[in-house]
Amino acid sequence: MTSQSPDQIRRAARLADAREEHARLAAEVAQHDISYHQEDAPTISDADYDAIRRRMDSLEARFPELVDLFAKPRIGAAPAEKFAKVKHVVPMLSLGNIFDPDEAQEFVARVKRFLGLAESDGVAVTAEPKIDGLSCSLRYVKGELVQAATRGDGFEGEDVTANVRTIKEIPHRLNGNAPEICEVRGEIYMTKGDFAALNERQMQQGKPAFANPRNSAAGSLRQLDPSVTAQRPLHFFAYAWGEISDMPATTQHGMIEALHHFGFKTNPLTRQCQSADELLAHWHTIEDQRAALPYDIDGVVYKVDDLDYQRRLGFVSRAPRWATAHKFAAEKATTLLRDIEIQVGRTGALTPVAKLEPVTVGGVVVSNATLHNEDEITRKDIRIGDTVIVQRAGDVIPQVLGPVTDKRPAEAKPYAFPHLCPACGSVAVREADAKGELDVVRRCTGGLICPAQSIERLKHFCSRNALDIEGLGDRQIELFHAEGLVMTPADIFTLEERDRRAMKKLKDREGFGETSVRNLFAAINARRKVAVNRFIFALGIRHVGETNARRLARHFGTFEALRSVASAASDPASDARAELNAIEGVGDVVAEALAEFFSEKHNEAQLEALLKEVSPEPMEAVQTSSPVAGKTIVFTGALEKMTREEAKAQAERLGAKVSGSVSRKTDLVVAGPGAGSKLDKASEFGIEVISEDEWLARVS
Ligand code: IVH
Repeated sequence: MTSQSPDQIRRAARLADAREEHARLAAEVAQHDISYHQEDAPTISDADYDAIRRRMDSLEARFPELVDLFAKPRIGAAPAEKFAKVKHVVPMLSLGNIFDPDEAQEFVARVKRFLGLAESDGVAVTAEPKIDGLSCSLRYVKGELVQAATRGDGFEGEDVTANVRTIKEIPHRLNGNAPEICEVRGEIYMTKGDFAALNERQMQQGKPAFANPRNSAAGSLRQLDPSVTAQRPLHFFAYAWGEISDMPATTQHGMIEALHHFGFKTNPLTRQCQSADELLAHWHTIEDQRAALPYDIDGVVYKVDDLDYQRRLGFVSRAPRWATAHKFAAEKATTLLRDIEIQVGRTGALTPVAKLEPVTVGGVVVSNATLHNEDEITRKDIRIGDTVIVQRAGDVIPQVLGPVTDKRPAEAKPYAFPHLCPACGSVAVREADAKGELDVVRRCTGGLICPAQSIERLKHFCSRNALDIEGLGDRQIELFHAEGLVMTPADIFTLEERDRRAMKKLKDREGFGETSVRNLFAAINARRKVAVNRFIFALGIRHVGETNARRLARHFGTFEALRSVASAASDPASDARAELNAIEGVGDVVAEALAEFFSEKHNEAQLEALLKEVSPEPMEAVQTSSPVAGKTIVFTGALEKMTREEAKAQAERLGAKVSGSVSRKTDLVVAGPGAGSKLDKASEFGIEVISEDEWLARVS
């Protein structure tokens, strides 16, 4: 027998500890997987779950013998096999949030500004409780309920028709003269009393309890067996609509009345208000009643009443400009700060996460919370071992507000934020901007050698709005990365070929049967051609989100054109940099990030390899049917029927690009009275000029 060196002995001791922790975490994960997938009753948030997995990964990185090659990857969040998918004809969007009375005033002022109303003009806005349940879209054709769908990601939900038919408050047939096609939307919820009783029953039957009424309503609705849903007491408030063939009213409150006449319950606390002050007064009325209401609410929704105004106001990304949710104050609790974990993101940002003694805040158990950044920890002097105040508001990530200093243990030391990346050991720095001001974020300088960054980049590359590779979720990426199978985006596309030659094939691993591997390869191959805007977004270049990716794709047309300009743009005085800067929405920061990305050697090599596998195709159209999609438009002079901001939003919604100046690239100039030099330029370049009325006729 050979004797062990002191190093080997020390490692063996550490391995024993790691093995114990790893086994404990694996058991936790297995339990959470059951709660999540089989019982629809997650007991922790996705972020907490991910944190456990990350901890396991870091143990596995140090002790590869802990890697369980046969571990089953976590299935994606959507239980795809469970319900058929339903595409929403009209997307189910979300609401922006506000928290302060000032923001309510600002909401009303902004609406008026956008519509070009005077400050003294009144604008009617409805206020109603924001129900804490899950939204559902009910499609009626000729008065008959034909389909019910969950919100899903807003564009595609799950078909829950059979389950919804068991809910008594949802009519199978509409009363009166309902429009031929009538999609009614609203919230399915469970009352607080029914939730408590259901949990009691669950416990008696040895089943896990639901975390809150919202989860129990969701769990009850998403049952494969509708007879289970039928036994659960679910309710429904109608508050919105999707596709409607013939609008029964011209105002929000008129529509709600109509929905009521069709046979739906609508919320009795809905009021029509004439000013921000009235909205705030009603907000207080609802807040006062909150505790006594039989169902959970988490705020008040304000909606501009006039539907024509709603149409004009439109949407910004995924939320309407004509509505907002004024949330109630966040709930708070105190607990022990056990540790501070530093997570490394896709762009190398080091984010401090508080590891807390689990505590219930507003009905949800919280064990992780954000500490924001290094400066916040210093400013609030938050120390490991402190008792801290934790706050949770709605869907927002819980946050640590600060320490309770009189409970501080004597040995607690000020927290020293690491200056080395915990994932790869590279130096982590805070960049200074042009004025010498330090960025709040400390970043790992390891770039592609940092495993945390490369995993996060891969996840981003495969994510829904990027390449959207089905079957290649976070867990699979982590596994493939840990095994060295997929280290760069290009590796994804060579996986099939390498698997063909491999001794140990993917299909032979647990959780990866023949069908799932075949589907995975098919999903990968389906993305060998991808819209250039998605491709640009997928690269994960700093400051280049979906909107900027679209702008770049629209400007350059092809990926190669972008690449050749961006890789020549390192010099701030170069023509290439000037071209980038001239693109609407692409300021210096974005231009510099692009130049940096495309001139970085490792990136170049990775791109080269990737472009051998994937061909970026012409960009996706926002609205292909729109006559102005893809066109560059300049508005000049006074507009009389709409504000400049409104005109711009409308044009962008229809897929056009709005520019502030006329150039040879301009396709159309919309000119009102008082238009000056831009008009001259337009005629010089031979660009089409139309009036505001002609514009409205063209886009209506
Ligand atoms: S209106 C386009 N009204 O809040 C906006 N939403 O954060 C359509 N919700 O997904 C939504 N009560 O599930 C609206 N009275 C109410 C609501 C409400 C609850 C939920 C809904 C939506 C989420 C948006």
